[in-house]
Amino acid sequence: MMKTIGVLTSGGDAPGMNAAIRAVVRTAIYNDMKVIGIRRGYNGLIYGDLREMNIASVGDIIHRGGTILHTDRSDEFKTPEGMKKARNIIEIFGIEGVVVLGGDGSFRGALDLSRMGVPTIGIPCTIDNDINCTDYTIGFDTATNTVVDAINKIRDTVTSHQRANVIEVMGRGRGDIALYTGVAGGAEHIIMPEVPFDINDLCKRLIQGKDRGKRSHIIMLAESMFDVNELCKEIEEKTGIETRATVLGHIQRGGSPTVADRILASRMGYHAVQLLKEGIGNRIVCIRNNQIVDCDIEEGLAMQKGFDEELYEMSKVLSI
Ligand code: F6P
Repeated sequence: MMKTIGVLTSGGDAPGMNAAIRAVVRTAIYNDMKVIGIRRGYNGLIYGDLREMNIASVGDIIHRGGTILHTDRSDEFKTPEGMKKARNIIEIFGIEGVVVLGGDGSFRGALDLSRMGVPTIGIPCTIDNDINCTDYTIGFDTATNTVVDAINKIRDTVTSHQRANVIEVMGRGRGDIALYTGVAGGAEHIIMPEVPFDINDLCKRLIQGKDRGKRSHIIMLAESMFDVNELCKEIEEKTGIETRATVLGHIQRGGSPTVADRILASRMGYHAVQLLKEGIGNRIVCIRNNQIVDCDIEEGLAMQKGFDEELYEMSKVLSI
């Protein structure tokens, strides 16, 4: 059985990472394994920024956003020299297996580690919900709750002034944050990369709403699609409805994780250590139909997943 494992967080942080670290550390210690906390993502492996963790080092963190191990996007790890340095540190510390918490960029590193002969398990952590082998990623639920809280507040002022507000949310090319928060926040329109956008259709719907006395119009916009200020100007010109822009930004990445994220993180962290305990590596932990399962890293990275078209169609009906 493995005696020593490492754990690291890499890429963009996500609320719930700490809950997952806690689960990894406590499950490993319960199974008589030693856990090394690797700091600043893969850079910690290159520069030897590691320290042993104990039961207490993960006390009082289940409710905290961010990551106590800190994170980074390491370009150096992708180079042969970087990998060599990492291999050296792994040997010095006697690390026999690694748990990587992050998104698909981080899982490419996990694949490299596995190929180096170090069994590595990936746990999907990103607010974007853009990892195709899992139904949900750790952090998505918290981020969407933060966005919905913002929508509620924006709606107050929008209604008072009878305006429209375009709310830009994150997602890195994926529309899940815009879609889920649009449905939960009762948005009048959702603009997301998976669906062709027709500004005339949007404006027609806004005018129809205004004509029947609607006082607030919330439009969700997934990031990197349009210049939000230009879009507001165009909507205003076409509809005569005063339109403001709100870019929510990194507020979506922080905050105390929700119950759903804490439970998902705990289940995934626990499962990851069970795999390493059996000597199994090169897997991504996933949740499918509320079951915690795992899949091969390469297969997981190659998987394709469409968006929830039914939810999108429903949102159009419910926002008439
Ligand atoms: O992947 C998480 C995410 O927050 C994306 O939604 C966003 O596009 C990106 O990271 C922002 O990256 P950074 O924090 O480096 O600005």
